[in-house]
Amino acid sequence: MNYAEAEKTLKGCGQEHVLAFWKKLSKDERSSLLAQIAKIEPRSLKLCRDALAKGAAAPDSSAGKAPKVATLKGKKLAEAVAAGEKEIAAGRVAALLVAGGQGSRLGYDGPKGCYPIGPATDAPLFYFHARKILARGNRYGATIPFYVMTSEANNAATVKCFEDNGYFGLDPKNVFFFTQGMWPGMTKDGRIILDAPGHIFMSPDGHGGLLAALKRSGALADMKKRGVKSVFFFQVDNPLVEIADPAFIGYHVLEKSEYSLKLCAKRDPFEKVGIPMLFGDRCRMVEYTEMTDAQCTRKGRDGRLYFLYGSPAIHVFDRAFLEREASKDMPLHLAFKKIPTVDAKGRVEKPVEPNGYKFEKFIFDILPNAKRTAFLAFDQKDEFSPVKNADGTDSPATCKADMQAKWTKWLAEAGVTVKKGVTIEIDPAYALDAADIKRIGLCLGAD
Ligand code: UD1
Repeated sequence: MNYAEAEKTLKGCGQEHVLAFWKKLSKDERSSLLAQIAKIEPRSLKLCRDALAKGAAAPDSSAGKAPKVATLKGKKLAEAVAAGEKEIAAGRVAALLVAGGQGSRLGYDGPKGCYPIGPATDAPLFYFHARKILARGNRYGATIPFYVMTSEANNAATVKCFEDNGYFGLDPKNVFFFTQGMWPGMTKDGRIILDAPGHIFMSPDGHGGLLAALKRSGALADMKKRGVKSVFFFQVDNPLVEIADPAFIGYHVLEKSEYSLKLCAKRDPFEKVGIPMLFGDRCRMVEYTEMTDAQCTRKGRDGRLYFLYGSPAIHVFDRAFLEREASKDMPLHLAFKKIPTVDAKGRVEKPVEPNGYKFEKFIFDILPNAKRTAFLAFDQKDEFSPVKNADGTDSPATCKADMQAKWTKWLAEAGVTVKKGVTIEIDPAYALDAADIKRIGLCLGAD
C-alpha cells in the first residue's frame, strides 16, 4: 500500500487524521504505518463504530433458564466413551488451543503457555497440553492435529518455545500455529487512536477472533483435508484439562451436537465463570459480570444453586459448524481502557482515566447459532484449575496443588501412597490417567 491508497482508504471511513503526522515520520515509521493501515478492513471499522453506537450494555438475561446438564454414568458413560474412542481412532478429532491472550493478571512477561507450571520440573503450560495430545493420539494409534492460536505479540515466542522443546514430542507436521487479528482502539466518537505519531493503537480481537483466523490461515481447510469432524477447544491457562476426552467427544457425537460444553458446579455463587442460559430454544453464555446478585444466589428446588453450572471454556465444536460461522460477523464487546494517545502536536499522553475502547469477540457468542447443543457435567477438581492470578485463587500455587492432588489420587488407585510434602509430577505421555498408572504398576510388579 502506498500513501495515496492509504489516504483514499482512510478518507472513505472518516479516519484521515491517522496520517496527520506523515510529514514528520521517518522512512521506517512511514512503512510500518502503511503496513498497519493495509491490514485494517473498512468493514471492521464500521463494525467497531456500530458497537460504540450500541454501547457496552449486555443483553438482558433476567428471563434466562438453566439448561439441562447431563452427568454420564454406567451404560451411558460406556457408550459415550466407545463413540469418542472410535472418533479419535478414525482421525476425526483435532485439538484447538486459544493462546493469544496477554496474561496481564498473572503479571507474566511472555506467552502464558510458556509459564513454568510443572511442580517438579517447571515445565511450561504448553508441555502439559502437547504431551496429552501426544499420549491420547498414541493410545488410539491416531494423529490428533494441534491448532494453536497466538497473537502478533506472542506468536514468535510461542513458536520458539515449541522449537526449543522439540515440539514436546509432537511431529511439527501436526502442529499448526495461526495468529488472531488485531483491532484498532477508538475514542468514544469512533476515531482511531494513535499511540505514537506513526502508530495506531491495536489490540487482539479476543478469542472469538479464532473463527476469522481459522479461515484466513487455512487451518479450517487443513482440518477438512485431514478429515477432522470434532474440534476440541480449550484455553491455555488450565493444565488439568482432559484434552480430547473420549467421553466428551463421544457424547458430542451421539447427541449430534454442533457445539458442546463441559460444565462444572461453581465453587461459590459468585465464581468468575460464564453461565450458559436458555432463552426459548437457544442458549447463550451470560458472563459473570452480567449476572445480578439474585441470579448468582438463586436456589433451585433441590436447594442447590439454580445456575449451578459454569463454563471452564472446554468445548467441542463440529468442524462444519465452525466453517458456517467463520463467514459471519460476530458481536463486539467493548472494554473502556486507558490508552496512550498523541495530542495535536504529536506528543504522547498517558491518560489517568479510561479514554478509549478496545474491541473483543468471544467464541461463545456463536452458541445461540448452534442448531444442537449438549452440556456435560464434570467434577471441577479433576479438570479445571486455571492459572489466572499471581496470588490467591486460580494462581500457580493453587494450580500446582490441584495437579498434585489429582496425580496423588491416581497413584493411590494404583496402590502407591505419596508421603506428605513430597513433590510429584507425572508426564502425561507416561500416564494419561489412573488406568495407565495401574498398568505401569503391574508391569513394575512383574519385573
Ligand atoms: C474466560 C471466559 C469465562 C470462562 C473462563 C474459564 C471470557 C470472556 N470469559 O474468562 O467465560 O468461565 O475463561 O477459565 O472469555 N485469548 C486469546 N486471545 C484474546 C483473548 C484471550 O487467545 O484476544 C485466550 C487466552 O489466551 C486464554 C483464553 O482466551 O487461553 C481466556 O482468556 P482470559 O482473558 O483469561 O479469560 P477469562 O476472563 O479468565
